[in-house]
Amino acid sequence: MTKYHNWFLQINRANDPASLTEMEQKHIPVLKTPEKLTAGKPFLLEVSVGRIQHPVENDHYIQFIDLYVGEVYLTRLTFTPVVLLPQATLSVNLKQSGLLRAVSRCNLHGQWEGTLDLHLAEEPPPHLKS
Ligand SMILES: [Fe+2]
Repeated sequence: MTKYHNWFLQINRANDPASLTEMEQKHIPVLKTPEKLTAGKPFLLEVSVGRIQHPVENDHYIQFIDLYVGEVYLTRLTFTPVVLLPQATLSVNLKQSGLLRAVSRCNLHGQWEGTLDLHLAEEPPPHLKS
C-alpha cells in the first residue's frame, strides 16, 4: 500500500466530527445561519472554509465552494488567490427543510464537504400573522 494519498479521488469528509485533524480543520466548509428559520422567509447564510484559516496564496488556495440543499444546486462561489478569503454571506429563501451541503475545492488538497441540517418552521397562516 502506498503512503501517497490522492485528495482528488473523492469528496473528503471529517472522519470524526468531534475531533477534527488539522487538515480537516483547514478545509471543511463551515456553515452558519440564524437559530430560527421560517419557510419562505429569507435568511442570511454565512459560508467559509476552515475553522483554521486556509492559505490564500498563488500556489495554495480555495478555488470555489459549491452549495446545495439536498440534491438542489444553489450556487458556486469562486475565489481569486491572494485577494479573496474563502468566505461569503448569502441571502437564502427556502420553502422546506433539508440538508445544506457545501463542497469546497483546494487546488492542492481536493474537495471537502461540510453540512448543516436546516430545520425551517412552517410560516403561520395569514389569519394568524400579527
Ligand atoms: Fe489546502
